[in-house]
Amino acid sequence: MVDLFEKLRMEEGALAKYSHLPDDYFFFPKLEGEIGPHMMFNGKKVLNWSLNNYLGLANHPDVRKADADAAAQYGLASPMGARMMSGNSVNHLKLEKELADFVMKEDTMLLNFGYQGVVSIIDALVGRKDVIVYDAESHACIIDGVRLHMGKRFVFLHNNLESLEKQLQRATKLANETGGGILVITEGVFGMSGNMGDLTGIVALKKKYNFRLFVDDAHGFGTMGKTGAGAGEEQGVQDQIDLYFSTFAKSMASIGAFVAGDKKILKYLRYSVRSQIYAKSLPMPLVLGGLKRLELLRTKPELKDKLWTIVHAVQSGLRDRGFHLGTTKSPVTPVLFKGGVGEAANMSMDLRENYGIFCSVVIYPVVPKDVIMFRIIPTAAHTLEDVERTLEAFSALKGKLDSGFYRSEELVSVTKEM
Ligand SMILES: Cc1ncc(COP(=O)(O)O)c(C=O)c1O
Repeated sequence: MVDLFEKLRMEEGALAKYSHLPDDYFFFPKLEGEIGPHMMFNGKKVLNWSLNNYLGLANHPDVRKADADAAAQYGLASPMGARMMSGNSVNHLKLEKELADFVMKEDTMLLNFGYQGVVSIIDALVGRKDVIVYDAESHACIIDGVRLHMGKRFVFLHNNLESLEKQLQRATKLANETGGGILVITEGVFGMSGNMGDLTGIVALKKKYNFRLFVDDAHGFGTMGKTGAGAGEEQGVQDQIDLYFSTFAKSMASIGAFVAGDKKILKYLRYSVRSQIYAKSLPMPLVLGGLKRLELLRTKPELKDKLWTIVHAVQSGLRDRGFHLGTTKSPVTPVLFKGGVGEAANMSMDLRENYGIFCSVVIYPVVPKDVIMFRIIPTAAHTLEDVERTLEAFSALKGKLDSGFYRSEELVSVTKEM
């Protein structure tokens, strides 16, 4: 037998091997100042490409005013209690109605957090006899929801319809034996690669297989589709998505989330989603702030247009300069390099310290061992000058990477000592 905490120290988690690095540089960095493209990091002003503030709403004056007014009027306590017991309000109901209209669904249910919401929705939807079929690159909240499932689950290769169909055949055979149903889960926009889930292809399979489709569209809501209703609208299949989910943590620049679908299934979820039934309801400032943000999404299409102007400038600028952006079809812009973790750390440090650019770097195990991924998140608040500066910095970085500059032991050891 071992002491539990000793064991935890010995069996380091996937990212724990980097824990010798200081807690506020590569991991847990502190970005300070007003949220936007220009913030302070480590005492210096940086051009920031790391926030999912897609529409620039985080610091929009109307949003700031709505949040402040609501906090002054209600405080953060109101309403007290879980929605079902004592935490309901006309404003919660109003936001649900307006969200449902916006995403073209009959009904919506608010969730306090996206992550917990997804876990709990999956838990509520399936029982022992049911089968889940899910995309291999699903967000952790989907994976954790699937982990709770007591029945069978099959994973399909990322966005691969052939693999999905194979898994649907297995799932159908099994569900026929158990008398259960099938839930397919994917994302509207995948937050790391920027790929859109092949929703058109998936819903086409509904003609051959009997399943329900749950789509997590955290990154598509507000950014994709003619009206910003997301990846389903973009692909013309919103009506075929049985349950549509998004968080408020990205385009809405807030906290909270929602799930939308037919009235009947939403009624079931209201009485079954444990993360909502057994938790205090969303505070009023977040609800009133949500209403204001949604109003801006609806009435200011120029925000989404501006976002896409920046997206096109960043993505075509990088492609023209020979960078590899994978297969993104969304604002999420991964910039891929060949190199190891030491080089990634050195590049990231050089970018921050010498070019004044803050951009999240993604390393193994999130990407393969020899891949370095910088993840640029364009927003409506960025300017074309910001883009130009960034393109030049990335070209300089690439030149240094190719010349072996970032393999320097001296640099690596500096990083290790930090
Ligand atoms: C795809 C996806 N789903 C769910 C979540 C979780 O949402 P929340 O931050 O509201 O918990 C995130 C991240 O925020 C996400 O990227």
